[in-house]
Amino acid sequence: MQKQSKAWRKAVLYTLMAVGAVAANAAEPSDVLQLSSTYGCMSCHGMVRKQVGPGFAQIAERYRNDPEAPMRTAARIRGGSVGEWGRVIMPRQPRMTEAESRLLAAWVLSQPPAR
Ligand code: HEC
Repeated sequence: MQKQSKAWRKAVLYTLMAVGAVAANAAEPSDVLQLSSTYGCMSCHGMVRKQVGPGFAQIAERYRNDPEAPMRTAARIRGGSVGEWGRVIMPRQPRMTEAESRLLAAWVLSQPPAR
């Protein structure tokens, strides 16, 4: 029983990862821009520099060599974050789907370095 449920969870996890990867590859910039406006990301973030929250280029720079960044960033976009950059809270997004959070994470993390 124990073993079975573990295997099942693993299967679900891999499926989610696969779906996420497909979704991220299919991402058109316009889809992700639409998402960022639907969820109000740009009322707190700039593409490059810090506003209320860190600039997306700054976030990409910090996590550039971190293999766990895509998963973790998606989770924080959806679940909220505090204490990584300062004391201001990023609220969670209860209506966002996991696939949407992955698209947004991939987009944020793909921003080129600020010049
Ligand atoms: C109310 C303002 C606000 C909104 C709206 C907001 N953010 Fe944030 N965001 C912040 C703040 C503040 C931080 C820094 C949090 C911290 O220090 O942990 C942050 C941090 C982040 C981070 C970095 C997390 C990390 O792991 O270091 C990412 C990525 C991010 N935001 C993306 C988004 C996206 C995408 C959206 C739209 C869905 C969004 N944010 C909406 C304020 C906001």
